[in-house]
Amino acid sequence: MGRFVQKNGLHERSGNGSGERVLAYGRRGMFRKQSVSLRVLGIESSCDETAAAVVADGREILSSVVASQIDIHRKYGGVVPELASREHLRQIVPVVREAVAQAGMQLADVDAIGVTQGPGLVGALLVGITYGKTLAQALGKPLVPVNHLEGHVHAVFLEAHKAGRRAKLPAVCLIVSGGHTVLYEVKADDSGVQDASARLRYRKMGQTRDDAAGEAYDKVAKLLGLGYPGGPILDRLAAVSNGAPAPVKFGATKMKGNALDFSFSGLKTAVLYHVRENGDYAEEIRSREAALARGERKFEQLMPLCSAKTRGLVREFQNAVVRDLVERTMKAAEELSVESVLVSGGVAANSQLRATFEERSKPADIEVFFPSRALSTDNAAMIAAAAYSRFRAGILADTSLNADPSLTLA
Ligand code: KG4
Ligand code: ZN
Repeated sequence: MGRFVQKNGLHERSGNGSGERVLAYGRRGMFRKQSVSLRVLGIESSCDETAAAVVADGREILSSVVASQIDIHRKYGGVVPELASREHLRQIVPVVREAVAQAGMQLADVDAIGVTQGPGLVGALLVGITYGKTLAQALGKPLVPVNHLEGHVHAVFLEAHKAGRRAKLPAVCLIVSGGHTVLYEVKADDSGVQDASARLRYRKMGQTRDDAAGEAYDKVAKLLGLGYPGGPILDRLAAVSNGAPAPVKFGATKMKGNALDFSFSGLKTAVLYHVRENGDYAEEIRSREAALARGERKFEQLMPLCSAKTRGLVREFQNAVVRDLVERTMKAAEELSVESVLVSGGVAANSQLRATFEERSKPADIEVFFPSRALSTDNAAMIAAAAYSRFRAGILADTSLNADPSLTLA
């Protein structure tokens, strides 16, 4: 039973664990029940995006603000942890304020605060956690610790809800980003709730043994003089590579042991050796690096500096990555006879990956769910959505909450 608190003539029952406040207006036996949505402020700072969002009932995005640090890390070709923490410190307060304002709310209207506990960069995580704890204390609101990877899973549910679709559970979920490439079986626990607001259970089915897929994109783009991050530009170059002959072919990666594991570092090294052995790439790489140094990093500026051979190479690299991701995920889905596949993380924005999943899943009678591009990459709406189901399950943190850089889901 919940506790009743007298508030402006309203009796508010709180703490009934359902995540729902039930307001009872009453005199003379006249009761009216009204469900009030539960609004969670999500905070994300695990890597190089400072993000805050407000999500109602784990489904409706009221606001989502992302401050990207890409411009700061670009010249180093990857995320520099010290710079990331410093930038999170600068951004966290204005980003949270903006998210609350865009939701048309005041901080005091927030019902709970969800914050990424890990995995990620320890210094970066600590900025979000410390701010989340401080806010929770000052406002007297519950604090919910969230696993960043579970956030990526919830990004898929948020998108499905927007589109009026429902992902049937159990499902197979591929999380594929700059830091992760991992396959899970996702189930709702046996509380009877079979949707995204249920407490979800995970079983790891496979993961990368070396580089993440997004990391391979970033490294290949760097060695080809195509800037950082690599995914978006390689995606677009591959899309205009029709008719470019293949300068090299990359075979499927065979895995000893768990056939659902991934490996991308061999592919990246194969691209490196191919480029080294073919001296004719060197000049165009130098010209693209010079363009990048002038700040000309847009696709439209770099594309004319790419020969047909380079476009063919990029297409073959992407074909190999996409084939591995799709084949292993579909194999997992078929092994478990699930009807839904969820794909999330930065690389889920890739157009060929999306198209190939659609093509491959139709004849197998499996439905594939992706977040929108904005929800694929790191954001806080997914953290707020994951926090909602954890809040309903009674999972709360106290002031001893600490960052866990290697937190796992399963
Ligand atoms: O999820 P995310 O924003 O951050 C991590 O948690 O890592 O993912 C960023 C990664 C980067 O490696 C980036 O190159 C990759 O996602 N990425 C893409 C695309 N857009 C972003 N990879 C392939 N194709 C894309 N369109
Ligand atoms: Zn991520």
